[in-house]
Parts: sequence; C-alpha cells; structure tokens
Amino acid sequence: MKTMNYRKYSAYPAVPITGRTWPDKRLEAAPIWCSVDLRDGNQALPVPMSVEEKVVMFKLLVSVGFKEIEVGFPAASATEFAFVRRLVEEKLIPDDVTIQVLTQAREHLIRRSFEAISGAPNAIVHMYNSTSTLQRDVVFRKSREEIKVIAVEGTRLCRQLKEESGSSGIRFEYSPESFTGTELDYALEVCHAVMEEWGASAENRVILNLPSTVEMSLPNIYADRIEWFCRNIRDRDAAFISVHAHNDRGTAVATAELALLAGADRIEGALFGNGERCGNMDIVTMALNLFTQGVDPGLDFSDLPHIREVYSRCTRMDVHPRHPYAGDLVYTAFSGSHQDAISKGMKAHGDGLWDVPYLPIDPGDVGCSYEAIVRINSQSGKGGVAFVLEKDYGIQIPKWMQPDFAWEVQALADRTGEELSPERIHELFLDGYVRLRQPVALKKCTISWVDSEPLESGEAATLISAVVEMKGGELVFEARGNGPLDAFVKGFIEKSGLSFSVDEYAEHAIGHSSGAEAIAYIRIVCEDGRSACGAGVDSNISLASIRAIVSALNRLP
Ligand code: KIV
Ligand code: ZN
Repeated sequence: MKTMNYRKYSAYPAVPITGRTWPDKRLEAAPIWCSVDLRDGNQALPVPMSVEEKVVMFKLLVSVGFKEIEVGFPAASATEFAFVRRLVEEKLIPDDVTIQVLTQAREHLIRRSFEAISGAPNAIVHMYNSTSTLQRDVVFRKSREEIKVIAVEGTRLCRQLKEESGSSGIRFEYSPESFTGTELDYALEVCHAVMEEWGASAENRVILNLPSTVEMSLPNIYADRIEWFCRNIRDRDAAFISVHAHNDRGTAVATAELALLAGADRIEGALFGNGERCGNMDIVTMALNLFTQGVDPGLDFSDLPHIREVYSRCTRMDVHPRHPYAGDLVYTAFSGSHQDAISKGMKAHGDGLWDVPYLPIDPGDVGCSYEAIVRINSQSGKGGVAFVLEKDYGIQIPKWMQPDFAWEVQALADRTGEELSPERIHELFLDGYVRLRQPVALKKCTISWVDSEPLESGEAATLISAVVEMKGGELVFEARGNGPLDAFVKGFIEKSGLSFSVDEYAEHAIGHSSGAEAIAYIRIVCEDGRSACGAGVDSNISLASIRAIVSALNRLP
C-alpha cells in the first residue's frame, strides 16, 4: 500500500479555554434560522437560479417558516438585483419575514445593496470581509489593523446609509469571513470595533456571524471557539451570535449543533446542504434532528417530498438517496433482519412515543408513506416479504410458512439480480401457491352437513363429495369427517393412496366487505417424510382450506 503524504497537513490549534460548559448543555429550543439558499446556495450552482426560479424558491422558504432569508448578493449581478427589487416592488415579502442581502465591505457594493433593499419594510444588510491570517498575508497583503479598518469603514457607511434611508427596519450583520482561519482574539477585536461603529446595544443588536467558511477542525473545537467568543465579547446582549457552517469535513450539522450548545443564537444554512464546495449546513437535517429529540424546530418539514421537488426543480440539484430524512432510500430496509424488526416495531407501536427499530423518525411526519419502508431484493428476509404482502395485499402468511415463501422470493431476486416490487411478490405468491393446478386439480367439491340424521356419538357430521384430477386421471370420492378439511383429506387419501397429515393450519379473511375472500394456509407432512406448504383462496372458507390442501399436494417435492 502506498502511504499518502499526510505530513503535508497540520492539525488545527486547540482553543485556550478551560471549564467549557457546552458539553453539559442540551438543545431544548430552536435557534433563529436564516436560510442562505438564495445566496450562498445559489452562488454555488453550476447554473444559478433565474429570477422566476428564485421567486418560487423564496415562496417555498416562506412556506417552510423561515423568518430571515438571505435573498442574494444584489451588488454582484443584475439578476440578483432584479430579484430583490421584484420582491420589494411586488410586495412578495410577508410582514413577519426579513430579507437579508450580502455585500462585501466596499463602498460601491454597499451603496448598491442599499439601493436594492430600498422600500423593504425589514431588511438585514450583511457585510463581510475576510479576516483570516492566510488571506491577510496572501490575498490582501494587509496588516491586522488595515483589515480592521475595512470592516469599520464599511460599517460606518452602512450606518450612514441606514440613517439616510430613514428606515428603522434595517438591521446589520457582520461576518469576519474565514473566521475558522482567523486568530480568535483578532476576530473578537474586529467584531468589537464593528459593534462600536454600529452603536450596537441591547435595543439595537448587531448580528455577528462567525462562519466556518472552510470547515477546518472537529466540531468540538469550533464549539470551544464559540464559547470563548461568547465569554469574551464585551456586551453579549448587544449581539446575536450567528453560525454559518460549511461542510468540508462532512460535519457541518454537528458543528452548528455544538455551536448552539456553546451559546450561538442563530443558524444560517441551506436546504439539503446546498452551498459552496461540500455545501452549507443542512437545515433540513438539523431541524429534524431537533424534532426527533422532542424539540419544536420552528420550521415545517411535514411535506419533504414537495420541498425536495421544488428545490430540485429550482436548483437542478439532486438529493442523494441516502440523504438524512429526505433521501429516497432512507425509509427503506432491504436487509432481512432490519425488515423483520421494523415490521414488528410498527405493529407493536401504539399512539405514544415513537419507538420503532431502525427508524429514528416516523416517515409519516415528513410526508413519506410507509409504503416504501420495506423493499425486497436478494438481501431480504422472510419478515420483509411477509410485511409487504400483508401491508399491500392483506395476506398474513403465518410464521411457519414464511421461510417457505421467502426462499422462493430470494431465489427469484438472485436469478434476476433485481429489486422485486410488491406486485411481483404478490404474483409470485399466487403463481407459486394459489394458482397451482398440476399434478392435482380440484374439479368439483360439494360440502353438506348431515345434522338432520341421528348420529352415533363420535360419528363425523360433514360429508364431502369431490372430483379431483390427478396426473391425467380422475379421483371421485365421497367421505365423512369432523369438518370439510378432515373429510376431504380422508377421501383423498383413500382414493389416491398417498398418506399424509395436516400439521399446520391458519386462515383469515382478506378485506372487510361482504364480498371478502378467505385465505387458508396449510402444511402437510407425508408418511415418507416429505412436506409442503400450500395456500388456497375462495369466498367460502371451507373451500379455501381444501384448495390449500390441493396447493400443498402440488408443491410436494
Ligand atoms: O462562508 C462564508 O463565510 C460566507 C460569508 C459570506 C458569510 O458565506
Ligand atoms: Zn458561506
């Protein structure tokens, strides 16, 4: 094996903090959510959304319940500007929703951003400049002081333009971009300067967004940074601490969750984690993580298939089939043991707390049907097969017969290498049991009860008269028994010479109407040791059981 050159990389520094409190905290309330789908998400699309698509997406985000929505970077492109104007001029922004626009800390961009939001009753101007060590040295070639001045001057202009606009509904957000690559004390120093310039107070809170622009460390280290920041900020009440986590290490959701424990108030993210590189923090996952801990997420994801459809239509991005909560396959079990446990759990669970093996959420809560939970392929077991037949067709194969049928299903799945639909499984059951006519076929059968005649004690009271075709010949017999099944078995054994007994039997109705059919399941064991299961369907339960005998006879090896 070749050793990869790990020496090229170095570990992220630890945070100088002792007595951290976040590990003992619990998430008990939803944060303030801010969707950045229309800005960060859009900015990362190979084909950015058109104005029309952005309008559709905006309406979706409003319907989900977002109260803060970053709608674009209006100074960066004509489409973004036109979209923000459309929202404002066509009064598409509900009263309780605040739009947010992103701008760099550069004069002409800030001015253009204020033009874009002109007339919006509520808006957040989100200004950023990169404060990271690397970017200061390599990209801007500026000192710490010079970078701070950019932030302060930008803030001053925002304050001035707010005053000139006369709008009290304009709020201010500042991001020390690449916070994860910035010395903590320096990030705080810049934020303090910004707060002072804005005149932040408990009545005029600034949003300080501390982005994990590039995810560089374990989530616990990011949480340490947030706790350190919250502890050391001069006036904690004058700021909302916001988190904007990217997913470069695949832990953006954990990063945001731990940041909340560490004191953050607000979370920025995007649906299904869309965004630059490996994406933004996925709000669907984080909100439903809260939900499945019994916390109201404050967002409505009860129709995930619809949300996913609109999202994919607007962004042209797919949602991975294994995406938490939302993927096509996440409520599906192929493995036999999982299927068995799910099917038992679903039966056992009542109206109380959700507790079904392998399903951390009730699929019905996010608009997914139970239909797809168990799907059958060559990995599937008897429990899953039985579950599908019962759920879709009301056929409750008894336990002792399940291995018999599961074997047939598995053999077919192995042969075809395909997943088997519930219809295919049902057909296999009918063909393999119910519709068998070779070598034995029931031609005629009448059942009568002889209760009008005086019977000796112990004398059988059911009379059967049957015609059975067997290997081209016909067996015609009349027999008495304790019931139709008993009478049929006796008559058949006598005529055919094949000696067997019934060792398992079950029956139930299929459907509830007056025209409901009955199904009987049987296992017979021959004197020579051979055995077989059979199933019969008929509107008459006695005939269903006789048909089940015929089915089993046809399946004898
Ligand atoms: O990831 C980031 O740092 C950003 C900023 C502009 C907030 O998107
Ligand atoms: Zn971002």
